[in-house]
Amino acid sequence: MTLTLKQQNLVKASLFILALLPFVRLVVATLTDHLGANPLEFITRNTGDWTLYFLCITLAITPLRRLLNAPFLIKSRRMLGLYSFFYASLHFLTFFWFDHFFDIAEMLTDVVKRPFILVGFTAFILLLPLALTSTNKMIKRIGAKRWQQLHKLIYAIVSLGVLHYFWMKAGKHDLTQPAIFAVVVALLFVIRIYWALQKRRQQFSVS
Ligand code: HEM
Repeated sequence: MTLTLKQQNLVKASLFILALLPFVRLVVATLTDHLGANPLEFITRNTGDWTLYFLCITLAITPLRRLLNAPFLIKSRRMLGLYSFFYASLHFLTFFWFDHFFDIAEMLTDVVKRPFILVGFTAFILLLPLALTSTNKMIKRIGAKRWQQLHKLIYAIVSLGVLHYFWMKAGKHDLTQPAIFAVVVALLFVIRIYWALQKRRQQFSVS
């Protein structure tokens, strides 16, 4: 698929606007009092869901780029990764603010006491270095190779995110949604492993 530079920029700008819509929807629902009977739960769950969606979308960019032969998609990957961080920060902030009123000690005690939250918190902490090293300046500073290695943390983050969701739902006997996420993430991993094995086989046959 070949697009002009202008069309590529249009794709990126459209993705930027689309990715902002869940946040706009949340703001509008808050201002118009449409968050349902339990606003806190609505915001926590909504931002948690969108964090996982964006982690999966970010991971899907490389396979989509190859399958659709659309190299320009790579230009949007960093932006989509940052959206994962944005929604994760809102998710964490809701918990830190409304559950613990910015009391760090109390929040940390709660995190350690509830294993499913500890898993989510670990995923969020691991997201921090990825967000902090997302600028061109930082890539140059740490070197492209080390940057690429660091950004492999995304696999651990998305796995912890799915585990966090499974654990949260474990007592409620409805594991359909986390199971769907687990299948999507597994497929995204399998396709990468398949390509990596294929590449290695080709290297062996050349040498
Ligand atoms: C990458 C990081 C994270 C991801 C992907 C994530 C994802 C999710 C998802 C998908 C849900 C369930 C939403 C639903 O029911 O539809 C959820 C719920 C929740 N998460 Fe996270 N989360 C993350 C980090 C965190 C952090 C850092 C905290 C707090 C320290 C946290 C606390 C919670 C809480 C309290 C709930 C709601 C539990 C309930 O309503 O009973 N999460 N999260």
